[in-house]
Amino acid sequence: MDLTHRLRRLRQSRSIRRLVAETRLGVDDFVLPLFVTHGVKTRQEIASMPGHARLSVDLLPAEIEGVMSLNIPAVLLFGLPEGKDSLGSGAYAGDGVVQRAVKEIKRATPELTVITDVCLCEYTDHGHCGVIKDGKVDNDSTLPLLQKTAVSHAEAGADIVAPSDMMDGRVGAIRSALDNAGFTDVAIMSYAAKYCSAFYGPFREAAESAPAFGDRRAYQMAPPNRAEALREVEEDLAEGADIVMVKPALPYLDVIADVKASFPVPLAAYNVSGEFAMLKAAARLGWLDEKRTTFEVLTAIKRAGADIIITYHAKEMARWLAEGEDPLS
Ligand code: PBG
Repeated sequence: MDLTHRLRRLRQSRSIRRLVAETRLGVDDFVLPLFVTHGVKTRQEIASMPGHARLSVDLLPAEIEGVMSLNIPAVLLFGLPEGKDSLGSGAYAGDGVVQRAVKEIKRATPELTVITDVCLCEYTDHGHCGVIKDGKVDNDSTLPLLQKTAVSHAEAGADIVAPSDMMDGRVGAIRSALDNAGFTDVAIMSYAAKYCSAFYGPFREAAESAPAFGDRRAYQMAPPNRAEALREVEEDLAEGADIVMVKPALPYLDVIADVKASFPVPLAAYNVSGEFAMLKAAARLGWLDEKRTTFEVLTAIKRAGADIIITYHAKEMARWLAEGEDPLS
C-alpha cells in the first residue's frame, strides 16, 4: 500500500480538527427574531416554537437585557396589533406596536441594532402581504403602504428595515421614501429570494398572519426555481438594498451559495420557524441530539455563504458559544 495522500491525518485529534475547521460560528453571526404584541404584562408562549413568546412592549426591556448580556448584535421585530383591517393600517400607525417597541428598545439600549419586518400580513384582516383588488394581491397599490410602514419604523428609530412582502419594486419605493423623509442612513435588508414555503407554519401561528383565503404563491417564489433567485437579488440591489436575504435557509442552501458567489454584498439567511420547530420536536422526542444538530444546521448555512443568520436558536447558540461548546470538532 503506497498512499501519499491520507486525508485522515488531519482528523486525528480534536485540536487538529479545530485548527483546520473552515467554518466557525460566532455570536456576531446571529439576529434574534422577537414577536411584540399589544397589551401590557402579556407573555404568550408559542407552542410550536419552544422558548419563544409574544411579549408586550413593557416586557421588552428585560428580554433585551438578556439579548445584550449574550452579546447578540441585532434583533428583528414582528408585531401583533390590537386590530386588523383591509389596508393593514396598524403596520404604519405612529403608535403601532412595532413603532412603540423600537422606541422602547432604542431608549434602553441604543447600541443594539434594531431591524423591523416591513410587511402588511400581520396587520391585514385577510392576512395577505398586500392590498386586495379584484380578489388579487395588487402590487402597485401596496407600495405606498410599505413606504409609510418603513418611514414610520425609521421615525421610531429602526436601524434597518426589512421588507418581506415580495412585491416588485418595493425596495426602490422604500429607499426613495426613506431618503425623502431624511432617513438616508437607515439601511434596507431585503427578503430578496423569499420562497413560498410550508416551513413558515409555526411563524404564522405565532404572528397570526396566515392568509384567510388562497396562498402566497402569486408573490413569493416557487421552490423549484434557482436562477430566478439571482434575478430577484440583482433587482433588489439595483433598487438600493444594502443586505439581501435568502429564506428559508436549510432547504435553499444552493441558493445561498449561488447568491454568495454572484454578489459581493452582505448576505443574510433566515433559518425560519419550521426549521427551528423541526429540530425542537425531534429533540423532545429524543430522536436527535439538539445541540449537535443545531450547530450542524447553522454551520451548514454559514458554510453555504451566509454572513448573517436570522435564527430562533440565537440565544441558546450564544450561550453555548460563550461556554466554549464546539460539538463539531
Ligand atoms: C411575513 C413574514 C413571514 C416570515 C417572516 N416574515 C411569513 C410569511 O411569509 O408567511 C416567516 C418567518 C418564519 O417562518 O420564521 N411576510
